[in-house]
Amino acid sequence: MTNTNKKVLVTGGTGYIGSHTVVELINAGYETVIADNLSNSERFILDRIEQIAGVRPKFYEIDLCDKAKVEDLFNAESDIKAVIHFAAFKAVGESVKEPLKYFRNNNLSLINLLEVMNEKGVNNIVFSSSATVYGQPDVLPATEATPFQKALSAYGSTKQMGEEILEKVSSATIIKSIALRYFNPVGAHKSALIGELPVGVPNNLMPFVTQTGIGKREMLTIFGDDYSTPDGTCIRDYIHVVDLAKAHVKACERLIAEKAESNYEVFNLGTGKGTSVLEIVNAFEKVTGQKLNYKIGPRREGDVESLYAETKLANEKLGWKAELGLEEMLSSAWAWEVKLHEGTVEV
Ligand code: UFG
Repeated sequence: MTNTNKKVLVTGGTGYIGSHTVVELINAGYETVIADNLSNSERFILDRIEQIAGVRPKFYEIDLCDKAKVEDLFNAESDIKAVIHFAAFKAVGESVKEPLKYFRNNNLSLINLLEVMNEKGVNNIVFSSSATVYGQPDVLPATEATPFQKALSAYGSTKQMGEEILEKVSSATIIKSIALRYFNPVGAHKSALIGELPVGVPNNLMPFVTQTGIGKREMLTIFGDDYSTPDGTCIRDYIHVVDLAKAHVKACERLIAEKAESNYEVFNLGTGKGTSVLEIVNAFEKVTGQKLNYKIGPRREGDVESLYAETKLANEKLGWKAELGLEEMLSSAWAWEVKLHEGTVEV
């Protein structure tokens, strides 16, 4: 049953993490409204959400950089209780080449949202941040108190700035906010009806692995095996996208129930476990039974050696813990890739 007292606006709700979150919100009884300009997602995802969750989210095809459109949306949806703001550009490499595109889109959309929320008296917002704010910490695991390092990309800058904006605005206005710092989101919904839809050659490891497994790419290149890690390859904290989605439901609940301990809170979202690139490759072969062609190449510029999360704060305060392991991450990512390959996803 949908509880109209629990209407949540999800920006970027047809995207990868957004769509999984909309499903979990509906499962938890929320009414969802999506705002997305479809710049990096597909309209059919709305059908898929409906297929999985049994409810079709209301959809506004708008660009959040257009403030008048944001105002129209809030006028039409007068009883929004919280906003989850996913909508943003996220390609690290592109952001290095076109920084202004990232500063304009990612920062302006957030500012417009916050201004309109203040005007309309909507005070709760959950923000998609990233573990990239930490750079390479001196001490691991990274806690929420680990200091930021200078961002190497405009994308990283927009996440650091987004947090700054929220912190300041939350101390001076009606806004209450939670920033969630994602580690490395991977995997897909168990139905294999929604998942990641990378455009062109994937930058991220998991879609490159599954595309190589299915034969779309000839070979995975492992970016460096001379790091100071046990097997020489980089270590990351991979987290299942469905676990990540559930954390957003918890964050919404916390804000709406006025349980937050301050006007601005931050939580790491990871498993707390580091996995190397080679371990991913080996686990992929084991879980899927699919051989993976790979070679060792040079390091990728800007990569940190090792990054994984301290998750105690999210465990204790949000009452959230990652439940799905590497096997579920890999098998669901693979099932989604197989469906894409079969052509059952009309992209
Ligand atoms: N990797 C490979 N080969 C590939 C792709 C990735 O070896 O073809 C390795 C990378 O070197 C890295 C690991 O796989 O060690 C994970 O790489 P991803 O690109 O999947 O993830 P990153 O940790 O680099 O990226 C994350 C987030 C971004 C964030 C970025 C900051 O996905 O949102 O960290 O650098 F901005």
